[in-house]
Amino acid sequence: MPRPVIEPFRIKVVEPIKLTTAAARRELLASASYNLFALRAEDVIIDLLTDSGTGAMSAEQWAAVMRGDESYAGAKSYFRLQEVVRELSGMEFVFPTHQGRAAERILCAVVPLAGKLVLSNGLFDTTRANLEVAGATGVDLPRPGALTAHEPFGGDIDLARLDQHLAEHEGRVAFVVMTVTNNTMGGQAVSMANLRAVSERCRRARVPLVLDACRFAENAYRIQRDEPEGRADTLAATARAMFELADVFTMSAKKDAIVNMGGLLGVRDPALAERIKVNLILTEGFPTYGGLAGRDLEAMAQGLQEVLDPAYLEYRYAVARYLAKRMEDDGLVVVQPAAAHAVYIDAGAALPHLSPAELPGQTLACALYLAGGVRSCEIGDFMFGPGEGRRQLVRLAIPRRVYTQSHIDYVGAIAEDVARVRHRLPAMRVVSAPEHLRHFSATLEPTAPFPAFDD
Ligand code: F0G
Repeated sequence: MPRPVIEPFRIKVVEPIKLTTAAARRELLASASYNLFALRAEDVIIDLLTDSGTGAMSAEQWAAVMRGDESYAGAKSYFRLQEVVRELSGMEFVFPTHQGRAAERILCAVVPLAGKLVLSNGLFDTTRANLEVAGATGVDLPRPGALTAHEPFGGDIDLARLDQHLAEHEGRVAFVVMTVTNNTMGGQAVSMANLRAVSERCRRARVPLVLDACRFAENAYRIQRDEPEGRADTLAATARAMFELADVFTMSAKKDAIVNMGGLLGVRDPALAERIKVNLILTEGFPTYGGLAGRDLEAMAQGLQEVLDPAYLEYRYAVARYLAKRMEDDGLVVVQPAAAHAVYIDAGAALPHLSPAELPGQTLACALYLAGGVRSCEIGDFMFGPGEGRRQLVRLAIPRRVYTQSHIDYVGAIAEDVARVRHRLPAMRVVSAPEHLRHFSATLEPTAPFPAFDD
């Protein structure tokens, strides 16, 4: 028997989980108008809504919190963070921000974007929104069959279409964004070969390359594991090689820096850094704290180092693969290979009796909650509105260092209960919705009652 991959940590502080009954969840979901964002977190048993800011900090991070220097300008904690980020990325200029989207907003404010294009393997929705507010158009160029091909690096950009866009729109492309891992494309990893090819093309076309690096360690791990020609001697060296290919990076530190709040913006160009400094002061504060407390900077510096522990990343990827396999054994279709941070269920395939307009992803997400208090997130026509050929996905994102193997087994068992009645699950209908970002606050109702689930 192969030995199990164990959690490479033990637990020092615990947080109780309130267990709810199926009858209570039926009431709770109805009062939340079938929108999982409207639930109270305490009414959720296993919360897989997001892996963002939901991780558990280590003893060393909490110790670092106590060392936080709360000076307004030039705090010691900033210089520690700067050193760690310079070492990690090779970027000279390092700016903390209050979260990832603040780094995106600042970048979009200091680079001329009106009438320009931004090309990407897959823009995250806040990145797209920020650059579109600044007057640019975001264009996703995922590799063909990104979500269906079962290739090890489904997060890659389509190089042929990138070439075509760079040639056709010469002088109009503001920058290229490579999102690692590619969250909007099933969280799949990007290969070093693809990053190198993009970097070379950007250099030739004199277009800056921006890395959206919030899951950089999970991506580096996948290169280390599955791309012999792409890997360096150590995970840190592979991560560094990824950053070396870019001119700028933005990062939500709520993912692979394993902190509950924070972001980063890193650049090489001194002139760009000057413009960032001025803009950052408008919303984030002084450039050496960027919307965060000194203690947050310390925890982030520590987390950025811990995340590159190979035992941690091996465990993290093993959990996602285990859950993905369990879902497949239950008869569900999942995006493969599994992302390290989440399992994406294909709800359209699971519920073939529902058309995309009947929101099968939202149905499945509601059913997972009703069956076992598992909260997930629809990523399909409910989130984005009707879209031609879009896959109707449900993401079960795994918070870092929070849940144990038995929690994951529980999620597998709940998915099995849902899979058993999937042909009887009802369509969902939107009752009211705001104009933008409707998934956060829309109200819905099922078109027929959900089947009853046992406790
Ligand atoms: N880029 C990517 C690839 C992301 O996944 C996120 C956030 C952001 C940028 C924005 O960072 O939240 O710190 O402002 N993703 C979260 C998620 C919200 O659930 O996937 P932020």
